[in-house]
Amino acid sequence: MIRLTVNGTERELDADIRTSLLDALRDHLALPGTKKGCDHGQCGACTVLVNGRRINSCLTLAVMHEGDEITTIEGLGEPGRLHPMQEAFLHHDGYQCGYCTPGQIVSAVGMLGEVKDNWPSHVSDRLTGSQDLSDTEISERMSGNICRCSAYPNIVDAIRTASDKTKEPA
Ligand code: FES
Ligand code: FES
Repeated sequence: MIRLTVNGTERELDADIRTSLLDALRDHLALPGTKKGCDHGQCGACTVLVNGRRINSCLTLAVMHEGDEITTIEGLGEPGRLHPMQEAFLHHDGYQCGYCTPGQIVSAVGMLGEVKDNWPSHVSDRLTGSQDLSDTEISERMSGNICRCSAYPNIVDAIRTASDKTKEPA
Protein backbone atom coordinates (compact mmCIF):
# COMPACT_ATOMS: atom_id res chain seq x y z
CA MET A 1 0.00 0.00 0.00
CA ILE A 2 1.33 3.44 -0.95
CA ARG A 3 0.25 6.48 1.08
CA LEU A 4 0.28 9.89 -0.58
CA THR A 5 -0.87 13.33 0.51
CA VAL A 6 -2.52 14.87 -2.53
CA ASN A 7 -4.14 18.30 -2.47
CA GLY A 8 -4.18 18.22 1.31
CA THR A 9 -5.85 14.81 1.62
CA GLU A 10 -4.16 11.55 2.61
CA ARG A 11 -4.81 8.86 0.02
CA GLU A 12 -3.92 5.17 -0.10
CA LEU A 13 -3.43 3.17 -3.24
CA ASP A 14 -2.71 -0.44 -3.90
CA ALA A 15 -0.26 -0.15 -6.76
CA ASP A 16 2.85 -1.82 -8.10
CA ILE A 17 5.91 -0.09 -6.58
CA ARG A 18 7.05 0.73 -10.14
CA THR A 19 3.98 2.96 -10.68
CA SER A 20 4.93 6.50 -11.70
CA LEU A 21 3.47 9.39 -9.74
CA LEU A 22 1.64 10.40 -12.92
CA ASP A 23 -0.05 7.02 -13.31
CA ALA A 24 -0.84 6.93 -9.60
CA LEU A 25 -2.65 10.26 -9.83
CA ARG A 26 -4.52 9.51 -13.04
CA ASP A 27 -5.22 5.79 -12.84
CA HIS A 28 -5.41 5.10 -9.11
CA LEU A 29 -6.60 8.35 -7.54
CA ALA A 30 -8.99 9.51 -10.29
CA LEU A 31 -7.23 12.85 -10.77
CA PRO A 32 -7.07 13.14 -14.57
CA GLY A 33 -6.22 16.87 -14.62
CA THR A 34 -2.52 16.02 -14.76
CA LYS A 35 -1.90 15.03 -18.36
CA LYS A 36 0.29 12.41 -19.99
CA GLY A 37 1.93 13.80 -23.09
CA CYS A 38 5.21 12.01 -23.72
CA ASP A 39 5.66 9.93 -20.52
CA HIS A 40 9.42 10.53 -20.59
CA GLY A 41 10.15 14.03 -19.38
CA GLN A 42 9.98 15.93 -22.64
CA CYS A 43 6.69 17.89 -22.62
CA GLY A 44 5.80 19.11 -19.12
CA ALA A 45 2.12 18.13 -19.44
CA CYS A 46 2.45 16.05 -16.26
CA THR A 47 3.83 18.84 -14.05
CA VAL A 48 2.78 18.77 -10.40
CA LEU A 49 4.09 20.49 -7.29
CA VAL A 50 5.90 18.40 -4.68
CA ASN A 51 6.46 20.38 -1.50
CA GLY A 52 5.91 23.50 -3.59
CA ARG A 53 8.47 22.65 -6.28
CA ARG A 54 7.48 21.69 -9.82
CA ILE A 55 8.45 18.28 -11.13
CA ASN A 56 7.53 16.03 -14.05
CA SER A 57 5.35 13.38 -12.43
CA CYS A 58 6.09 10.89 -15.23
CA LEU A 59 9.74 10.78 -14.18
CA THR A 60 9.28 9.82 -10.56
CA LEU A 61 7.79 6.86 -8.71
CA ALA A 62 4.76 7.36 -6.49
CA VAL A 63 6.36 5.32 -3.71
CA MET A 64 9.17 7.90 -3.47
CA HIS A 65 6.69 10.55 -2.32
CA GLU A 66 5.22 9.16 0.86
CA GLY A 67 5.22 12.09 3.29
CA ASP A 68 5.44 14.73 0.57
CA GLU A 69 2.77 17.36 -0.14
CA ILE A 70 1.64 16.84 -3.73
CA THR A 71 -0.44 19.50 -5.47
CA THR A 72 -2.15 18.89 -8.79
CA ILE A 73 -4.17 21.27 -10.95
CA GLU A 74 -7.30 20.09 -9.09
CA GLY A 75 -5.74 21.26 -5.82
CA LEU A 76 -4.79 24.72 -7.06
CA GLY A 77 -8.37 25.81 -7.54
CA GLU A 78 -11.76 24.84 -8.84
CA PRO A 79 -14.73 26.57 -10.48
CA GLY A 80 -15.82 29.40 -8.23
CA ARG A 81 -12.49 29.38 -6.38
CA LEU A 82 -9.88 29.68 -9.11
CA HIS A 83 -6.20 30.24 -8.43
CA PRO A 84 -4.98 33.63 -9.81
CA MET A 85 -2.92 31.72 -12.40
CA GLN A 86 -6.01 29.81 -13.59
CA GLU A 87 -7.95 33.09 -13.82
CA ALA A 88 -5.14 34.70 -15.80
CA PHE A 89 -5.01 31.82 -18.32
CA LEU A 90 -8.76 32.17 -18.80
CA HIS A 91 -8.56 35.94 -19.17
CA HIS A 92 -5.73 35.82 -21.73
CA ASP A 93 -6.90 32.72 -23.64
CA GLY A 94 -3.64 31.03 -22.70
CA TYR A 95 -4.60 27.83 -24.50
CA GLN A 96 -6.22 26.38 -27.60
CA CYS A 97 -6.86 22.63 -27.27
CA GLY A 98 -6.06 22.85 -23.55
CA TYR A 99 -4.13 19.60 -23.28
CA CYS A 100 -0.93 21.23 -22.07
CA THR A 101 -2.76 23.77 -19.91
CA PRO A 102 -2.85 22.05 -16.50
CA GLY A 103 0.89 21.45 -16.76
CA GLN A 104 1.50 25.03 -17.91
CA ILE A 105 -0.49 26.46 -15.00
CA VAL A 106 1.07 24.27 -12.32
CA SER A 107 4.52 24.85 -13.78
CA ALA A 108 3.96 28.62 -13.85
CA VAL A 109 2.97 28.59 -10.17
CA GLY A 110 6.12 26.63 -9.33
CA MET A 111 8.20 28.93 -11.52
CA LEU A 112 7.03 32.06 -9.72
CA GLY A 113 8.07 30.38 -6.46
CA GLU A 114 11.56 29.86 -7.91
CA VAL A 115 11.73 33.53 -8.94
CA LYS A 116 10.60 34.56 -5.47
CA ASP A 117 13.44 32.48 -4.04
CA ASN A 118 15.91 34.24 -6.39
CA TRP A 119 16.75 31.17 -8.47
CA PRO A 120 18.51 32.33 -11.66
CA SER A 121 17.70 30.93 -15.11
CA HIS A 122 19.94 30.43 -18.14
CA VAL A 123 19.10 33.95 -19.34
CA SER A 124 19.40 35.78 -16.03
CA ASP A 125 21.85 38.69 -15.94
CA ARG A 126 23.13 37.69 -12.53
CA LEU A 127 23.29 34.51 -10.46
CA THR A 128 22.36 35.97 -7.09
CA GLY A 129 19.80 38.42 -5.78
CA SER A 130 16.34 39.17 -7.10
CA GLN A 131 15.61 38.44 -10.76
CA ASP A 132 13.60 40.67 -13.09
CA LEU A 133 10.79 38.73 -14.72
CA SER A 134 11.14 39.82 -18.34
CA ASP A 135 9.20 38.05 -21.09
CA THR A 136 12.49 36.35 -22.08
CA GLU A 137 12.84 35.11 -18.51
CA ILE A 138 9.27 33.77 -18.48
CA SER A 139 9.80 31.97 -21.80
CA GLU A 140 13.09 30.44 -20.69
CA ARG A 141 11.76 29.38 -17.31
CA MET A 142 8.69 27.80 -18.96
CA SER A 143 10.69 26.09 -21.72
CA GLY A 144 10.06 22.67 -20.19
CA ASN A 145 6.34 23.00 -20.99
CA ILE A 146 5.60 22.41 -24.65
CA CYS A 147 2.41 23.70 -26.29
CA ARG A 148 1.72 22.00 -29.61
CA CYS A 149 -0.93 24.66 -30.34
CA SER A 150 1.75 27.32 -29.88
CA ALA A 151 -0.30 29.48 -27.52
CA TYR A 152 2.97 30.83 -26.13
CA PRO A 153 2.35 34.61 -26.44
CA ASN A 154 -0.89 34.36 -24.46
CA ILE A 155 0.69 32.00 -21.94
CA VAL A 156 3.41 34.58 -21.27
CA ASP A 157 0.78 37.33 -20.92
CA ALA A 158 -1.20 35.19 -18.47
CA ILE A 159 1.84 34.45 -16.35
CA ARG A 160 2.80 38.15 -16.32
CA THR A 161 -0.71 39.09 -15.12
CA ALA A 162 -0.72 36.43 -12.41
CA SER A 163 2.76 37.45 -11.34
CA ASP A 164 1.71 41.10 -11.00
CA LYS A 165 -1.38 40.09 -9.00
CA THR A 166 0.50 37.89 -6.57
CA LYS A 167 3.38 40.32 -6.05
CA GLU A 168 3.76 41.41 -2.46
CA PRO A 169 3.56 45.20 -1.99
CA ALA A 170 7.03 46.78 -1.70
S1 FES B 1 4.29 13.36 -19.74
FE1 FES B 1 5.81 13.93 -18.32
S2 FES B 1 7.09 15.32 -19.36
FE2 FES B 1 5.69 14.61 -20.88
S1 FES C 1 -3.17 24.48 -25.87
FE1 FES C 1 -2.99 22.76 -27.19
S2 FES C 1 -1.07 21.91 -26.64
FE2 FES C 1 -1.12 23.78 -25.58
